Amino acid sequence: MSAAEVGAAVFDPFEDGFVESPYAQYARLRDGDPVHHSKLLHGWVVTRVDDVGRLLRDPSVSSDIRNATPNPLTINELERLAEQERASRTVVLMDDPDHGRIRRLLADPFRPREVARLAERVRERIARAFDALREQHGDGLVELDLISEFAYPQPVEIFSEILGVPDEDHPQFRYWAQCVARTVDPILSEAEREVCLKGLDDMYAYLEAVADEKRAAPTDDLLSNLVHADDDGARMTHEELMAQLVTLYMAGHEPVASLLGSGTLALMRAPDQLARMRSDPEVLRNGVSELLRYDGPNQFVRRILTRPTVVGDVELPAGEVIYASPASANRDPRRWGDTAEEVHVDRPDAGQHLQFGAGVHACLGSHLARLQAEIAFAAIFERLDDLELAGEPEWGNRMFIRGLNLLPVACRINAGRS
Ligand code: HEM
Repeated sequence: MSAAEVGAAVFDPFEDGFVESPYAQYARLRDGDPVHHSKLLHGWVVTRVDDVGRLLRDPSVSSDIRNATPNPLTINELERLAEQERASRTVVLMDDPDHGRIRRLLADPFRPREVARLAERVRERIARAFDALREQHGDGLVELDLISEFAYPQPVEIFSEILGVPDEDHPQFRYWAQCVARTVDPILSEAEREVCLKGLDDMYAYLEAVADEKRAAPTDDLLSNLVHADDDGARMTHEELMAQLVTLYMAGHEPVASLLGSGTLALMRAPDQLARMRSDPEVLRNGVSELLRYDGPNQFVRRILTRPTVVGDVELPAGEVIYASPASANRDPRRWGDTAEEVHVDRPDAGQHLQFGAGVHACLGSHLARLQAEIAFAAIFERLDDLELAGEPEWGNRMFIRGLNLLPVACRINAGRS
């Protein structure tokens, strides 16, 4: 490897074309500098599949930023967390034993059997959403933005319903949830941060009030269930519960919305694969795994080393911050072979992707995410005939959760088969 080639492998989210597709840059990093020191992030960008998997499963690796050797980004974040102490109590940023305690209290509603019970409600909501689109646009050939008109509102609506938030407040939640998603981005202007933090405050205030209502008069929903998980304050404090609710809100919709957009785009760009998904419901399940692998939303998962650790062939001391990339791992030809950069809905081992993370922090909502994605993709293929890309898609510039802001499509919205 020449110095020039090594030099070319730099993590640069501002590079031309990165927002549209970061994958060429990830490939250069995997080949030229798989454990790459990023000056921008004051940490190590790790891109190869084996290294990413190993780090996520390593019990000595921490999610708690307080374990990092101070650098300008961590100092900044710790200052923010000190002001917003409740945000630091999210399960995502905790280590065991607190992490395990909170995670066990949250786990029940997200188990496969519980999630499967939601299928009919999710299906009905999505069918109603397409009925409303047909009413609005008619049954002829129309152009619409699949993000703002479907992919974004749906997961918010569905999660709000699951949580037990009244219908009329769903749009407000959509805005708040976007604010929360933005606050976790390490690269954010002060002005943007302030707007986002205000949104977060409002969301806390709202959730506090609804949680109080559910505590007084429980109903059959996730929030009532979780409120009772903190009945005995020794198990989960009120502040801890609030932090988990905000986490669930963010985690519960943003990546699902992103997946619906990027997955539909990937299939429109590979019409043979779209036809395959459409023609065979059996392919759908595996196809959703492949869409997660091919262009899933989760770009980076942050970790902190708590002891000297060899990552790839680089020895790193305790306190170093690591940005492990499931998105890059999912395109690594070392694991996925020559077709790593292509979408194949029949790929036999697509389910082994790392989009849901791995180890103790592996996504708690993966069954719910899959349920929503399977039902939503099935509905897109069933209800939208002659589906085609109708203009340039626009990607958002978030570094952690990649997703489209705009996906113009042309289609005919049919009345549904049943
Ligand atoms: C396509 C959709 C989704 C993707 C790609 C995704 C991805 C991930 C990933 C990679 C992690 C690990 C983060 C880390 O290791 O630091 C994670 C954690 C988590 N996810 Fe998801 N997620 C999705 C949907 C959901 C949904 C629908 C929910 C539930 C409402 C959810 C709830 C959570 C929670 C609570 C955690 C934290 C778990 C812990 O720290 O122990 N996610 N998710």
